[in-house]
This record gives sequence, C-alpha cells and structure tokens, in this order.
Amino acid sequence: MTAGRAPVDANAFAPVESAAGDARRRFPDGFVWGTATSSFQIEGGRASRGESIWDRFCEQPGAIVDGSNGDVACGHHEHRRGDVRLLRELGVAAYRFSVSWPRVLPNGRGEAAQAGLDFYSHLVDDLLDSGIEPHVTLYHWDLPQVLEDEGGWPERATAEAFADYVDVVVSHLGDRVRRWTTLNEPFCSARFGYVTGTMAPGRTSPALGYAASHHLLLGHGLAVERIRDRCPDADASIVLNFGAIRAASDRPEDVAAAELDHTLLNRWYVEPIAGHGYPIDALVRGVPWDGAEIRDGDLDVIAAPIDVLGVNYYSRATVGADPDLHVPVERATAMGWEIYPAGLAQTLRWLHDEFAFPRYLITENGAAMADEPDERGFVDDQDRIEYLHDHLAAVHGVIAEGVPVEGYFVWSLLDNFEWAYGYTCRFGLVRVDYDTLERIPKASASWYAGVTRSNALAG
Ligand code: FCB
Repeated sequence: MTAGRAPVDANAFAPVESAAGDARRRFPDGFVWGTATSSFQIEGGRASRGESIWDRFCEQPGAIVDGSNGDVACGHHEHRRGDVRLLRELGVAAYRFSVSWPRVLPNGRGEAAQAGLDFYSHLVDDLLDSGIEPHVTLYHWDLPQVLEDEGGWPERATAEAFADYVDVVVSHLGDRVRRWTTLNEPFCSARFGYVTGTMAPGRTSPALGYAASHHLLLGHGLAVERIRDRCPDADASIVLNFGAIRAASDRPEDVAAAELDHTLLNRWYVEPIAGHGYPIDALVRGVPWDGAEIRDGDLDVIAAPIDVLGVNYYSRATVGADPDLHVPVERATAMGWEIYPAGLAQTLRWLHDEFAFPRYLITENGAAMADEPDERGFVDDQDRIEYLHDHLAAVHGVIAEGVPVEGYFVWSLLDNFEWAYGYTCRFGLVRVDYDTLERIPKASASWYAGVTRSNALAG
C-alpha cells in the first residue's frame, strides 16, 4: 500500500451490536461522544509549517526514546479527509484537535500563513459536513521555536503573543467553531518543559517553571478575552490534567509529600482559574517561587469565567517522601500507569464540590496497551476496551450523582507520536502502520462505535 492511498476505505468497520440497546448505563440525551488528538502528534507536514519547540527538542540526542520526530507522524496533514471519514464511522458527535501555532504563525507573531489557516478551515468544514462538532484547542504544547528563543513561557511577552495568535485563529474560524479551549495541560508545559526537562523545550529550573506556570495562566486569561470579543456565543474552556494521588504510607513525611503533589498537580491551575488565587499553603511550604511575575490585575484576568472545564484523567500515582519510591500496582497500562477508574469519579466529585464549574468535559482518557496486530494489522484490544468501559462507568456514576459532565473524548483517535516516548506507545482506537500510514481500526473502535450509537454502556 502506498502512503498516498486514502487510508480508510479498505477498513470500514461496523459497530459492535452487543453494546447497543443496553439500558442499564444509558447516558443523558445529547451526551457528547468524541475522540481527541493534537497537532504535533498526528499532523506531520513539517515542510509547510514553522519550527516548534518539539522539532528542536527531538533533535537532542536521547530526548526521544526511539530517536523519532514529528516530521511525518500520522500524515494527518495529507490524510485529513480519510481521518474525518474514520470519525464518521466511529459515530462521534465531536472531535477535539489542536491548532499548530507555528503552522498558522511561522514567526510566532505577525503575518499569518494562509495555507496554515486554510488547512484548519478545511478540517472544520469537513467535520461540519459530517455532522461532527469541532472542539478546537489553541495550544497543545507546540510553541513556535522563535518565541522560545526569546525566552518562551517564562516570559510575559509569550502570554501576550499567545493572545494575538488566538485572535488570528478565532477571527478566522469563529464563524463556524463554537467550542474553544485555550491550553492543554499547562502543568505539563511548565513542569516537564521547564523544570524536569523531559519535554520540550527541555530546560531545568524550578524558577523558570513557576514563571512559566503564571504566564501560561495569564495567556489563558488573555485568550478568553479575545474569544469573548470575537465569538460572544461560543464556549471558552481550558483543559487541565488531574490525577488521583495516594500517599505511600500514613507516615507524616509521606502524607506531606502526597499533599504537595496534589497541590502542584491538581490545585495549582484550577484554583486561580476558579478565582481562588494560587494555593497559598503550597507557597508557605517552601515552593521556590516568590510570585514576582504576578502583576496587579493578573489574577482577575486569569479568573475570567469559563463555560466548561476540560478534564484529562489517566491514572493514580503513589507518592512518598522518597522520590525513588516504586510501589507495584494491581493493574497498569503498557506504560506502567496504574489503572484506577475510581480516581476519575473522585476527581470529578472533588472539582464539583470545590469549584462548581458550570459544566465538565472529559477531554482525554485512554490507555497505551501492548497491542499485538495479527497478519492483517488488526488488534483485538480487549484490555483497552476494559479500560475505557471502566472509566465510562465511573463517569456515568458521577453524572447520576448530579455532576454536570456533558461529554467524553477518548485519547486517542489514532496511534501517534507520544512525546518523549516517540512512536513506542500506542493509544489509538485506530492502529497506524507507520511504514504505510495505513489506518486499521482496532476492536476498541468497533466497541466505541457501539457505545456512541447506543448512547449506553453495556455491562
Ligand atoms: C496527555 C497529553 C496527550 C497525550 C496523553 C497520553 O498528557 O495531553 O497529548 O500525550 O497524555
């Protein structure tokens, strides 16, 4: 098969009937079923966009486990139409994707690249023609390298450049897109990008990390203002990652370590957005940041009301005072992430009790499993189905308790470039053969098509 061939036609698949018609776990009418991806992880099309921090990071020896990069990825830039057909076959009502800032503004600011804008415009049209609502994330980690060269997210100017970029995208697509998300997981951008250095741009300084966290949040707030100006009827949201955290023991030092992680992971971003400011208890406990970057009025900008909170949830971490602690878990994915569906329910309950956002969307949930393709490339991924089933059952439970969760997006539509793990971890409902770019729906794709069509979960 050649890479140019439409990748889907040969692989049309049918929803699994057994999932249909089971009323035991029926979701509310209008519940939004979707899948999610991000630009750098699937697009490729490197020659037609500017350099991002991930292109540069991938060049560092040892940064990506398999030495790969995003030059081709899933070839979505060329296979856009086939990928929209896949979404249609999945029966999803919504698709969450991200816009590549360097594809739209190769220089980070200034003149927009018409071809870049056209790519997303065509994608939006293809989705709408298929009855699929676009949920657009404006930043999923691929900062233009030119802005990193000027200091990146630790600089306030990056937040301002982000707002200007958002204005360009929103004024171009805002006549058709009603669902906007500013940032994906700013925690990861700040922590892994600037503190641990395990993700782009690979810098390693706690002070830079805290400065980045503030400017990411400021960028979010400024972007919400632009979205409101250009698209007053649209939803504005941010996507944050949450994890369940368990202390390794009830020794005070382990409990304290777990509490600090909870503060930094789960509270650091949501509290300023909810108007509570930064979690002060973390500051007094010696977080190495004096808040010097916070200017008068910033916290009000950051606390601009959002319509929906996007929740990404994957796993539970066991945390103790010993940073090298390794606690074996009962069930884990191929990446060793503990499978703990109850944590998703706990997270949603906690968010709603503490902050009462108007609505919630599960914007990412899914699993990398040790997929074993047969000779035709088909993967019978019952383990992924079980993971998704159990997390959806948890979502169903909290909806019944009154938490307004309005939809769920599987991460991910396709196997793709999993950041520092390169192409070694497969999260897709659809397998990608990276030699041919062929798409081969897995058993989980048929299973999910059954769920979306019946609006119910069997079992
Ligand atoms: C999330 C990211 C997403 C993907 C999943 C597995 O943290 O938002 O891009 O890598 O993890």
